[in-house]
Amino acid sequence: MSASEDDKPATRIVGAGRRPEWTQGIVNPPVWRASTILYDSVADLRAAGGRDTHHRLFYGRRGTPTQWSLAEALTELEPGAEATLLYPSGVAAVSTALLSVLSPGDELLLADSVYDPTRGFADHFLKRFGVTTTYYDPMIGEGIASLVTDRTRAIFLESPGSLTFEVQDIPAIVGVARDKGLVTLIDNTWATPLLFPAISFGIDYSILACTKYVVGHSDVMLGSVTAAKGKYGALRQGSYQLGQTASPDDAWLGARGLRTMDVRLKSQGAAALRIARWLADRPEVARVLHPALPSCPGHEFFERDFKGAAGLFSFVLRGGGERERAALIDGLRLFGLGFSWGGYESLALPVDPEKIRTVVPWEAEGPVVRLQIGLEDPEDLMTDLDAGLMRFREAIG
Ligand SMILES: Cc1ncc(COP(=O)(O)O)c(C=O)c1O
Repeated sequence: MSASEDDKPATRIVGAGRRPEWTQGIVNPPVWRASTILYDSVADLRAAGGRDTHHRLFYGRRGTPTQWSLAEALTELEPGAEATLLYPSGVAAVSTALLSVLSPGDELLLADSVYDPTRGFADHFLKRFGVTTTYYDPMIGEGIASLVTDRTRAIFLESPGSLTFEVQDIPAIVGVARDKGLVTLIDNTWATPLLFPAISFGIDYSILACTKYVVGHSDVMLGSVTAAKGKYGALRQGSYQLGQTASPDDAWLGARGLRTMDVRLKSQGAAALRIARWLADRPEVARVLHPALPSCPGHEFFERDFKGAAGLFSFVLRGGGERERAALIDGLRLFGLGFSWGGYESLALPVDPEKIRTVVPWEAEGPVVRLQIGLEDPEDLMTDLDAGLMRFREAIG
Protein backbone atom coordinates (compact mmCIF):
# COMPACT_ATOMS: atom_id res chain seq x y z
CA MET A 1 0.00 0.00 0.00
CA SER A 2 1.68 3.19 -1.04
CA ALA A 3 0.61 6.53 -2.44
CA SER A 4 2.63 8.37 -5.06
CA GLU A 5 3.22 12.12 -5.13
CA ASP A 6 1.40 12.24 -8.48
CA ASP A 7 -1.79 10.80 -7.01
CA LYS A 8 -4.64 13.22 -6.28
CA PRO A 9 -5.11 14.18 -2.58
CA ALA A 10 -8.28 12.02 -2.33
CA THR A 11 -6.17 9.03 -3.37
CA ARG A 12 -3.19 9.93 -1.19
CA ILE A 13 -5.35 10.28 1.92
CA VAL A 14 -6.36 6.61 1.61
CA GLY A 15 -2.88 5.11 1.30
CA ALA A 16 -0.74 7.67 3.12
CA GLY A 17 1.25 6.43 6.11
CA ARG A 18 0.19 2.79 5.69
CA ARG A 19 3.68 1.32 5.45
CA PRO A 20 3.64 -2.52 5.50
CA GLU A 21 6.07 -2.62 8.43
CA TRP A 22 3.61 -0.50 10.43
CA THR A 23 0.37 -2.17 9.38
CA GLN A 24 1.72 -5.77 9.39
CA GLY A 25 -0.91 -6.61 6.77
CA ILE A 26 -3.85 -5.04 8.62
CA VAL A 27 -5.71 -2.29 6.75
CA ASN A 28 -5.70 0.25 9.57
CA PRO A 29 -2.33 0.58 11.33
CA PRO A 30 -3.00 -1.01 14.74
CA VAL A 31 -2.54 0.63 18.12
CA TRP A 32 1.01 0.07 19.37
CA ARG A 33 1.05 1.21 22.98
CA ALA A 34 4.40 1.66 24.70
CA SER A 35 6.33 3.48 27.33
CA THR A 36 9.23 1.02 27.75
CA ILE A 37 11.08 -0.34 24.75
CA LEU A 38 13.19 -3.43 25.54
CA TYR A 39 16.72 -3.85 24.15
CA ASP A 40 18.62 -7.07 23.46
CA SER A 41 21.81 -6.08 25.24
CA VAL A 42 23.56 -3.22 26.98
CA ALA A 43 25.42 -2.53 23.76
CA ASP A 44 22.10 -2.37 21.88
CA LEU A 45 20.62 -0.01 24.50
CA ARG A 46 23.68 2.26 24.34
CA ALA A 47 23.65 2.30 20.54
CA ALA A 48 19.93 3.21 20.47
CA GLY A 49 20.59 6.50 22.28
CA GLY A 50 23.13 7.55 19.70
CA ARG A 51 21.03 6.65 16.67
CA ASP A 52 18.55 8.83 14.84
CA THR A 53 15.32 7.82 16.59
CA HIS A 54 13.08 8.95 13.71
CA HIS A 55 10.76 6.00 12.96
CA ARG A 56 12.73 3.70 15.29
CA LEU A 57 11.37 2.41 18.57
CA PHE A 58 13.37 4.07 21.33
CA TYR A 59 11.13 5.28 24.17
CA GLY A 60 7.35 5.68 24.30
CA ARG A 61 7.42 9.46 24.17
CA ARG A 62 9.09 9.31 20.75
CA GLY A 63 6.12 7.40 19.41
CA THR A 64 5.37 4.02 17.91
CA PRO A 65 4.24 3.07 14.39
CA THR A 66 0.72 4.25 15.29
CA GLN A 67 1.76 7.87 15.75
CA TRP A 68 4.36 7.70 12.95
CA SER A 69 1.74 6.47 10.52
CA LEU A 70 -0.65 9.39 11.11
CA ALA A 71 2.25 11.86 11.14
CA GLU A 72 3.56 10.50 7.85
CA ALA A 73 0.07 10.60 6.32
CA LEU A 74 -0.24 14.29 7.22
CA THR A 75 3.23 14.95 5.78
CA GLU A 76 2.25 13.25 2.52
CA LEU A 77 -0.71 15.64 2.16
CA GLU A 78 1.64 18.66 2.27
CA PRO A 79 3.88 18.74 -0.82
CA GLY A 80 7.27 20.18 0.17
CA ALA A 81 7.02 19.07 3.79
CA GLU A 82 9.79 17.27 5.66
CA ALA A 83 7.93 15.70 8.59
CA THR A 84 5.07 16.06 11.09
CA LEU A 85 4.81 15.74 14.86
CA LEU A 86 1.65 15.10 16.87
CA TYR A 87 0.51 16.87 20.05
CA PRO A 88 -2.18 16.27 22.68
CA SER A 89 -4.30 19.19 21.40
CA GLY A 90 -4.34 21.95 18.81
CA VAL A 91 -3.28 24.48 21.43
CA ALA A 92 -0.31 22.29 22.37
CA ALA A 93 0.67 22.21 18.68
CA VAL A 94 0.44 26.02 18.43
CA SER A 95 2.37 26.68 21.65
CA THR A 96 5.09 24.10 20.98
CA ALA A 97 5.65 25.32 17.43
CA LEU A 98 6.03 28.90 18.72
CA LEU A 99 8.35 27.88 21.56
CA SER A 100 10.47 25.88 19.12
CA VAL A 101 11.26 28.92 16.98
CA LEU A 102 11.18 31.87 19.41
CA SER A 103 13.78 32.99 21.98
CA PRO A 104 13.63 35.63 24.70
CA GLY A 105 14.01 39.09 23.14
CA ASP A 106 12.24 38.08 19.91
CA GLU A 107 9.08 39.68 18.58
CA LEU A 108 6.14 37.78 17.11
CA LEU A 109 3.68 39.22 14.57
CA LEU A 110 0.25 37.74 15.22
CA ALA A 111 -2.90 38.19 13.12
CA ASP A 112 -5.64 40.06 15.02
CA SER A 113 -8.11 37.38 13.84
CA VAL A 114 -6.37 34.36 15.45
CA TYR A 115 -8.05 31.82 17.73
CA ASP A 116 -8.37 33.41 21.16
CA PRO A 117 -6.24 30.87 23.13
CA THR A 118 -3.38 31.52 20.66
CA ARG A 119 -3.59 35.17 21.73
CA GLY A 120 -3.70 34.05 25.36
CA PHE A 121 -0.48 32.08 24.91
CA ALA A 122 1.25 35.08 23.30
CA ASP A 123 -0.07 37.65 25.78
CA HIS A 124 0.77 35.67 28.91
CA PHE A 125 3.22 32.81 28.47
CA LEU A 126 5.33 34.30 25.68
CA LYS A 127 5.37 37.66 27.45
CA ARG A 128 6.79 36.02 30.61
CA PHE A 129 9.30 34.22 28.38
CA GLY A 130 10.53 37.60 27.08
CA VAL A 131 8.84 37.52 23.67
CA THR A 132 6.77 40.55 22.67
CA THR A 133 3.80 40.31 20.32
CA THR A 134 2.55 42.85 17.80
CA TYR A 135 -0.90 42.17 16.41
CA TYR A 136 -1.52 42.95 12.76
CA ASP A 137 -4.59 43.54 10.62
CA PRO A 138 -5.23 40.17 8.90
CA MET A 139 -5.80 42.10 5.65
CA ILE A 140 -2.39 43.82 5.82
CA GLY A 141 -0.78 41.78 3.00
CA GLU A 142 2.67 42.98 2.01
CA GLY A 143 2.15 46.01 4.28
CA ILE A 144 3.35 43.70 7.05
CA ALA A 145 6.88 44.73 6.02
CA SER A 146 6.34 48.04 7.86
CA LEU A 147 5.88 46.17 11.18
CA VAL A 148 9.12 44.21 10.93
CA THR A 149 11.86 45.35 13.33
CA ASP A 150 15.32 44.00 14.15
CA ARG A 151 13.73 41.83 16.82
CA THR A 152 10.97 40.32 14.65
CA ARG A 153 11.49 36.60 14.36
CA ALA A 154 8.21 35.05 13.24
CA ILE A 155 4.85 35.75 11.61
CA PHE A 156 1.82 33.69 12.68
CA LEU A 157 -1.18 33.48 10.33
CA GLU A 158 -4.63 31.99 10.62
CA SER A 159 -6.50 32.05 7.35
CA PRO A 160 -9.41 32.32 7.37
CA GLY A 161 -9.75 33.52 10.97
CA SER A 162 -11.93 31.00 12.76
CA LEU A 163 -14.48 33.53 14.09
CA THR A 164 -14.62 36.24 11.43
CA PHE A 165 -13.18 34.43 8.39
CA GLU A 166 -10.90 37.09 6.87
CA VAL A 167 -8.72 35.36 4.24
CA GLN A 168 -5.14 36.56 4.33
CA ASP A 169 -2.89 37.33 1.34
CA ILE A 170 -0.57 34.49 2.29
CA PRO A 171 1.81 34.69 -0.72
CA ALA A 172 2.39 38.42 -0.03
CA ILE A 173 3.14 37.78 3.66
CA VAL A 174 5.37 34.80 2.86
CA GLY A 175 7.23 37.00 0.35
CA VAL A 176 7.99 39.58 3.05
CA ALA A 177 8.99 36.85 5.52
CA ARG A 178 11.39 35.31 3.00
CA ASP A 179 12.89 38.73 2.24
CA LYS A 180 13.49 39.48 5.88
CA GLY A 181 14.50 35.98 7.00
CA LEU A 182 11.46 35.42 9.22
CA VAL A 183 9.78 32.15 10.16
CA THR A 184 6.14 31.67 9.10
CA LEU A 185 3.58 29.56 10.94
CA ILE A 186 -0.06 29.09 10.00
CA ASP A 187 -3.03 27.69 11.88
CA ASN A 188 -4.44 25.76 8.92
CA THR A 189 -7.20 23.99 10.86
CA TRP A 190 -10.08 25.37 8.77
CA ALA A 191 -8.72 24.45 5.33
CA THR A 192 -6.55 21.42 6.20
CA PRO A 193 -3.87 20.54 3.61
CA LEU A 194 -6.68 19.28 1.33
CA LEU A 195 -8.07 22.76 0.69
CA PHE A 196 -4.86 24.72 1.29
CA PRO A 197 -1.50 22.91 1.12
CA ALA A 198 0.29 25.57 3.17
CA ILE A 199 3.87 24.29 2.86
CA SER A 200 3.70 24.50 -0.95
CA PHE A 201 2.84 28.20 -0.50
CA GLY A 202 6.16 28.73 1.29
CA ILE A 203 4.89 28.45 4.89
CA ASP A 204 7.47 26.95 7.29
CA TYR A 205 5.11 25.33 9.84
CA SER A 206 1.53 24.25 9.11
CA ILE A 207 -0.47 23.63 12.28
CA LEU A 208 -3.71 21.65 12.62
CA ALA A 209 -6.06 21.23 15.53
CA CYS A 210 -6.67 17.62 14.40
CA THR A 211 -9.43 17.67 17.04
CA LYS A 212 -11.54 19.19 14.24
CA TYR A 213 -11.60 17.78 10.71
CA VAL A 214 -8.87 15.14 10.98
CA VAL A 215 -10.58 13.31 13.85
CA GLY A 216 -13.96 14.36 12.47
CA HIS A 217 -16.11 12.75 15.19
CA SER A 218 -15.86 15.20 18.14
CA ASP A 219 -14.34 12.63 20.46
CA VAL A 220 -10.56 13.19 20.54
CA MET A 221 -8.17 16.06 21.35
CA LEU A 222 -5.19 16.02 18.96
CA GLY A 223 -2.86 18.47 17.19
CA SER A 224 -0.13 18.37 14.55
CA VAL A 225 2.62 20.54 13.15
CA THR A 226 4.01 19.80 9.71
CA ALA A 227 7.41 21.34 8.97
CA ALA A 228 8.76 22.40 5.59
CA LYS A 229 12.03 20.87 4.36
CA GLY A 230 14.90 22.08 6.54
CA LYS A 231 12.57 23.27 9.33
CA TYR A 232 11.88 20.00 11.10
CA GLY A 233 15.02 19.89 13.28
CA ALA A 234 14.04 22.92 15.39
CA LEU A 235 10.49 21.62 15.85
CA ARG A 236 11.65 18.16 16.83
CA GLN A 237 14.14 19.51 19.35
CA GLY A 238 11.60 21.88 20.92
CA SER A 239 8.89 19.21 21.05
CA TYR A 240 11.15 16.53 22.54
CA GLN A 241 12.50 18.91 25.16
CA LEU A 242 8.99 19.96 26.14
CA GLY A 243 8.00 16.30 26.39
CA GLN A 244 5.24 16.66 23.84
CA THR A 245 3.60 13.49 22.61
CA ALA A 246 0.14 12.27 21.59
CA SER A 247 -1.22 8.92 22.75
CA PRO A 248 -1.30 6.02 20.26
CA ASP A 249 -5.03 5.54 20.92
CA ASP A 250 -5.76 9.14 19.96
CA ALA A 251 -3.42 8.96 16.96
CA TRP A 252 -5.23 5.81 15.82
CA LEU A 253 -8.59 7.58 16.01
CA GLY A 254 -7.03 10.51 14.14
CA ALA A 255 -5.80 8.19 11.38
CA ARG A 256 -9.19 6.53 11.19
CA GLY A 257 -10.87 9.92 10.82
CA LEU A 258 -8.34 11.12 8.27
CA ARG A 259 -9.30 8.42 5.73
CA THR A 260 -12.75 9.99 5.29
CA MET A 261 -11.72 13.64 5.68
CA ASP A 262 -11.87 14.36 1.96
CA VAL A 263 -15.48 13.20 1.55
CA ARG A 264 -16.56 14.83 4.81
CA LEU A 265 -14.99 18.15 3.81
CA LYS A 266 -16.59 18.03 0.37
CA SER A 267 -20.02 17.24 1.79
CA GLN A 268 -19.87 19.66 4.71
CA GLY A 269 -18.31 22.38 2.54
CA ALA A 270 -21.03 22.10 -0.11
CA ALA A 271 -23.83 22.12 2.49
CA ALA A 272 -22.27 25.08 4.34
CA LEU A 273 -22.00 27.12 1.15
CA ARG A 274 -25.62 26.38 0.28
CA ILE A 275 -26.76 27.46 3.74
CA ALA A 276 -24.48 30.53 3.67
CA ARG A 277 -26.05 31.67 0.35
CA TRP A 278 -29.54 31.08 1.74
CA LEU A 279 -28.72 33.10 4.87
CA ALA A 280 -27.29 35.95 2.76
CA ASP A 281 -30.77 36.47 1.28
CA ARG A 282 -32.54 36.60 4.65
CA PRO A 283 -33.68 40.02 5.91
CA GLU A 284 -32.64 39.13 9.48
CA VAL A 285 -29.04 38.64 8.35
CA ALA A 286 -26.83 41.67 7.71
CA ARG A 287 -23.75 39.85 6.41
CA VAL A 288 -22.47 36.34 5.90
CA LEU A 289 -18.79 35.80 6.70
CA HIS A 290 -17.95 32.88 4.42
CA PRO A 291 -14.70 32.93 2.39
CA ALA A 292 -16.45 31.75 -0.80
CA LEU A 293 -18.85 34.74 -0.77
CA PRO A 294 -17.77 38.16 -2.07
CA SER A 295 -19.01 39.74 1.21
CA CYS A 296 -16.09 38.11 3.08
CA PRO A 297 -12.89 40.16 3.42
CA GLY A 298 -10.15 38.47 1.38
CA HIS A 299 -12.62 36.57 -0.84
CA GLU A 300 -10.32 37.28 -3.80
CA PHE A 301 -7.42 35.51 -2.02
CA PHE A 302 -9.68 32.58 -1.24
CA GLU A 303 -10.59 32.29 -4.94
CA ARG A 304 -6.94 32.53 -5.94
CA ASP A 305 -5.32 30.21 -3.37
CA PHE A 306 -7.83 27.71 -1.92
CA LYS A 307 -9.17 24.52 -3.49
CA GLY A 308 -12.53 24.77 -1.75
CA ALA A 309 -14.34 25.78 1.42
CA ALA A 310 -14.79 23.95 4.70
CA GLY A 311 -18.03 23.75 6.69
CA LEU A 312 -17.48 26.54 9.24
CA PHE A 313 -18.63 30.15 8.77
CA SER A 314 -20.33 33.01 10.63
CA PHE A 315 -23.14 35.44 10.01
CA VAL A 316 -23.95 38.85 11.45
CA LEU A 317 -27.51 39.44 12.57
CA ARG A 318 -29.29 42.66 11.65
CA GLY A 319 -29.78 44.36 15.02
CA GLY A 320 -30.52 42.75 18.35
CA GLY A 321 -28.16 41.74 21.11
CA GLU A 322 -27.40 38.88 23.45
CA ARG A 323 -31.07 38.17 24.27
CA GLU A 324 -32.24 38.14 20.66
CA ARG A 325 -29.29 36.00 19.52
CA ALA A 326 -30.00 33.56 22.35
CA ALA A 327 -33.62 33.33 21.19
CA LEU A 328 -32.34 32.14 17.80
CA ILE A 329 -29.77 29.67 19.13
CA ASP A 330 -31.53 28.24 22.20
CA GLY A 331 -34.48 26.74 20.32
CA LEU A 332 -32.44 25.05 17.57
CA ARG A 333 -33.34 21.38 17.27
CA LEU A 334 -30.53 20.05 15.08
CA PHE A 335 -27.65 22.37 15.95
CA GLY A 336 -25.77 21.62 19.17
CA LEU A 337 -24.33 24.47 21.22
CA GLY A 338 -20.61 23.89 21.73
CA PHE A 339 -17.12 25.27 21.10
CA SER A 340 -15.23 22.71 19.06
CA TRP A 341 -16.09 22.00 15.41
CA GLY A 342 -15.15 19.83 12.45
CA GLY A 343 -17.21 16.83 13.61
CA TYR A 344 -20.08 15.17 11.76
CA GLU A 345 -22.75 17.11 13.68
CA SER A 346 -23.90 20.70 13.24
CA LEU A 347 -23.27 23.37 15.86
CA ALA A 348 -24.23 27.00 16.44
CA LEU A 349 -22.16 29.26 18.69
CA PRO A 350 -22.51 32.89 19.77
CA VAL A 351 -19.17 34.64 19.11
CA ASP A 352 -18.07 38.09 20.24
CA PRO A 353 -15.10 39.31 18.22
CA GLU A 354 -15.48 42.80 19.75
CA LYS A 355 -14.24 41.37 23.07
CA ILE A 356 -11.10 39.93 21.50
CA ARG A 357 -9.81 42.26 18.75
CA THR A 358 -7.17 44.88 19.55
CA VAL A 359 -5.88 46.27 16.21
CA VAL A 360 -8.97 46.30 14.04
CA PRO A 361 -11.98 47.03 16.26
CA TRP A 362 -14.90 44.78 15.35
CA GLU A 363 -17.91 46.78 14.21
CA ALA A 364 -21.06 45.05 13.06
CA GLU A 365 -24.77 45.54 12.52
CA GLY A 366 -25.60 43.04 15.28
CA PRO A 367 -24.31 39.99 17.13
CA VAL A 368 -22.46 37.18 15.37
CA VAL A 369 -23.38 33.50 15.17
CA ARG A 370 -20.87 30.88 14.02
CA LEU A 371 -22.19 27.75 12.35
CA GLN A 372 -20.42 24.42 11.98
CA ILE A 373 -22.27 22.45 9.33
CA GLY A 374 -22.23 18.70 9.77
CA LEU A 375 -23.47 15.79 7.69
CA GLU A 376 -27.22 16.29 8.19
CA ASP A 377 -29.38 17.11 5.17
CA PRO A 378 -28.97 20.87 4.53
CA GLU A 379 -32.73 21.19 3.89
CA ASP A 380 -33.42 20.11 7.49
CA LEU A 381 -30.75 22.47 8.80
CA MET A 382 -32.30 25.38 6.89
CA THR A 383 -35.75 24.54 8.28
CA ASP A 384 -34.25 24.61 11.79
CA LEU A 385 -32.46 27.93 11.10
CA ASP A 386 -35.61 29.38 9.54
CA ALA A 387 -37.49 28.77 12.82
CA GLY A 388 -34.55 30.29 14.70
CA LEU A 389 -34.63 33.43 12.57
CA MET A 390 -38.38 33.70 13.24
CA ARG A 391 -37.68 33.54 16.99
CA PHE A 392 -35.02 36.23 16.51
CA ARG A 393 -37.56 38.46 14.68
CA GLU A 394 -40.13 37.98 17.41
CA ALA A 395 -37.56 38.77 20.11
CA ILE A 396 -36.62 42.01 18.31
CA GLY A 397 -40.33 42.90 18.25
C1 LIG B 1 -8.64 27.61 14.67
C2 LIG B 1 -8.36 26.79 15.87
N1 LIG B 1 -7.08 26.53 16.16
C3 LIG B 1 -6.76 25.80 17.25
C4 LIG B 1 -7.73 25.29 18.07
C5 LIG B 1 -7.32 24.53 19.29
O1 LIG B 1 -7.50 23.17 19.14
P1 LIG B 1 -7.71 22.22 20.40
O2 LIG B 1 -9.10 22.46 20.87
O3 LIG B 1 -7.47 20.86 19.85
O4 LIG B 1 -6.68 22.61 21.43
C6 LIG B 1 -9.07 25.54 17.80
C7 LIG B 1 -10.13 24.99 18.68
O5 LIG B 1 -11.28 25.40 18.63
C8 LIG B 1 -9.39 26.32 16.67
O6 LIG B 1 -10.67 26.62 16.38
